[in-house]
Amino acid sequence: MKVPLLDLKEQYSAIRQEVESSLKKVIENQDFILGAEVTDLEKEVAAYCGTKYGVGVASGTDALILSLKALGIGSGDEVITSPFTFFATAESISVVGAKPVFVDIDPKTYNIDPLLIKAKITKKTKAIMPIHLYGQCADMDPIMNIAEKYGLKVIEDNAQGIGATYKGKKSGSMGDIGALSFFPSKNLGAFGDAGMVITNNEKLAKEIKVLRVHGSSSRYVHSEIGMNSRLDNLQAAVLRIKLRYLDRWLEARRGIADFYGQRLKGLPVVTPHVGAYNVHTYHQYTLRVKSDQGKLMKHLLDSGIERRTYYPISLHLQECYKSLAYRSGDMPESENAAKEVFSIPVFPEMTLEQKRYVADIISGFFC
Ligand SMILES: Cc1ncc(COP(=O)(O)O)c(C=O)c1O
Repeated sequence: MKVPLLDLKEQYSAIRQEVESSLKKVIENQDFILGAEVTDLEKEVAAYCGTKYGVGVASGTDALILSLKALGIGSGDEVITSPFTFFATAESISVVGAKPVFVDIDPKTYNIDPLLIKAKITKKTKAIMPIHLYGQCADMDPIMNIAEKYGLKVIEDNAQGIGATYKGKKSGSMGDIGALSFFPSKNLGAFGDAGMVITNNEKLAKEIKVLRVHGSSSRYVHSEIGMNSRLDNLQAAVLRIKLRYLDRWLEARRGIADFYGQRLKGLPVVTPHVGAYNVHTYHQYTLRVKSDQGKLMKHLLDSGIERRTYYPISLHLQECYKSLAYRSGDMPESENAAKEVFSIPVFPEMTLEQKRYVADIISGFFC
């Protein structure tokens, strides 16, 4: 049996008619850039995430870059973040001319360890950028307390976290600003690149709206240097349909996680740890194996099961960050996780046979 990490064709076949009729309307209107669908999506996503404003942009990476720019962060500034994340998190900080300062992770949740943040704060620190990795919120209360005490901004990298909650609050709604990615493989995915900034701060929302259209608040008048980062109406039309299904899909993901949790109990694999304060959305279902990780991963692949390590190189050891002068051993938890974790298939349309097969192949490996 073949089991992919996710199956977007299955998802599409369930919503094909709704999506096609919505896309047809946009095409017939020939209204492609920042149209009515975008405006409606911005309102709907903001309402879903519990924020006042949503501003559609071209990708999750742009959402991070524009958030940093809107907060006035740039050359000479430092931003604290985790090295155990997709590259775009740190890249966005570098792109605006600031320096990413890495803080190691909590080995249980794989999110930034709040206890290690204070030691990295300097006069140049302007913000903290926690990531809600794999669909589980970082421990936000201590992060917000540190930010308040030291006068720092908080940008939530919520690319993987839509729908997750922390003490009942939605991911992306707790900091000054949150960045969402609608990359096709995300829990809410478009038919191409797309993203959104969410915030409760009207001034920041207005600033992002200006920055996403070349720093222009009225046609051909440019008050600042921005960029072209508009969300297009076709993507918004798709996302509006999918948003209606999101909670059902997240529930299905949690059901699969429960199934795996039961079936993998007692085996020498670490299943996801869910913080007492968190509702996880399982953007990834990530296992950890102390030894033989490579052998188990090969066994899965040989059995037709797709699996992948998110992320195999801790960012402080990436070649492009050589100039930051980190060394192997500086972020031990992140480095160990990079060697030991891998994610297995989890998607709402998974059949019972597929779930059973994945669990059986893993338990068979240890027998
Ligand atoms: C944690 C994280 N941050 C940022 C991004 C960037 O999002 P995008 O691919 O939409 O630019 C991603 C997406 O892969 C991500 O997983």
